[in-house]
Amino acid sequence: DYNCSVEFFWSPFLVKLETKINRTRALKLDQLPAMLQRTLGADVLVFNTGHWWTHTGKLRAWDHLERNGKMVEMEGEEAFNIALRAWAKWVDHSIDPSRTRVFFRSVSPEHKSVNWCYNQTFPISAGTVAPGFPKSLVTIVERNIKSMRTPVTYLNITHLSELRIDAHPSVYTITREGKPLTTEQQRQPLTYADCSHWCLPGLPDTWNVLLLDSLMRPPSNNSI
Ligand SMILES: *[C@@H]1O[C@H](CO)[C@@H](O)[C@H](O)[C@H]1NC(C)=O
Ligand SMILES: *[C@@H]1O[C@H](CO)[C@@H](O)[C@H](O)[C@H]1NC(C)=O
Ligand SMILES: *[C@@H]1O[C@H](CO)[C@@H](O)[C@H](O)[C@H]1NC(C)=O
Ligand SMILES: *[C@@H]1O[C@H](CO)[C@@H](O)[C@H](O)[C@H]1NC(C)=O
Repeated sequence: DYNCSVEFFWSPFLVKLETKINRTRALKLDQLPAMLQRTLGADVLVFNTGHWWTHTGKLRAWDHLERNGKMVEMEGEEAFNIALRAWAKWVDHSIDPSRTRVFFRSVSPEHKSVNWCYNQTFPISAGTVAPGFPKSLVTIVERNIKSMRTPVTYLNITHLSELRIDAHPSVYTITREGKPLTTEQQRQPLTYADCSHWCLPGLPDTWNVLLLDSLMRPPSNNSI
């Protein structure tokens, strides 16, 4: 009825992840993926990035970091900050705030280790959450948004989502092939329970209600 389209662009680091011919994967901290150009002219843009930055070992999506076209080594936090700065610069240069509202959705928390989602059927009561994502990275996001020229509305959903330990698919998730877990797999929650993604309908609908509410208000002045 409203000729509205919703598009989803997947780029978990915001910056460019490139696979070379020899199959090494470089995370280019100062380059944005070309597909971002396709978002120009949208009425509303909602960005986010998060726990892919914290993956280690086999789960880490990149083999090395690059900056100015050269391989670099640095701590995860510094890399995260450089990437966020590159994103912020892109937004400030490319987005026309009179045409496009920009949102940044805060980190979507996982429920692993101490607060494991398996078998949970009630939200955590406030005050007992062990944050699953480094506070230092959250601070880097907030600092970068504050320093931007473009008004960016921060959708601060991290804490309210931390409470929803019961809202993950757990052993009712699907495999990479898109199939439900077998009974045998469901009996091995340590291996198979998905405590990162969310059930739908569910918590992401709450994020959308908050997004809609923010859309009805004038943009804030990055007063995080
Ligand atoms: C719907 O939106 C597209 C993209 O903005 C536009 O090209 C098209 O003319 C619109 N259609 C109607 C019926 O308004
Ligand atoms: C893969 O290629 C890149 C350049 O394209 C090079 O920097 C890197 O050292 C190569 N890695 C291996 C393991 O050969
Ligand atoms: C999970 O819940 C089921 C059913 O209530 C129970 O049999 C099982 O022991 C629980 N497992 C854990 C690890 O709490
Ligand atoms: C985000 O929300 C939490 C509570 O839900 C609050 O403690 C925190 O200060 C908020 N962060 C910002 C930057 O507003």
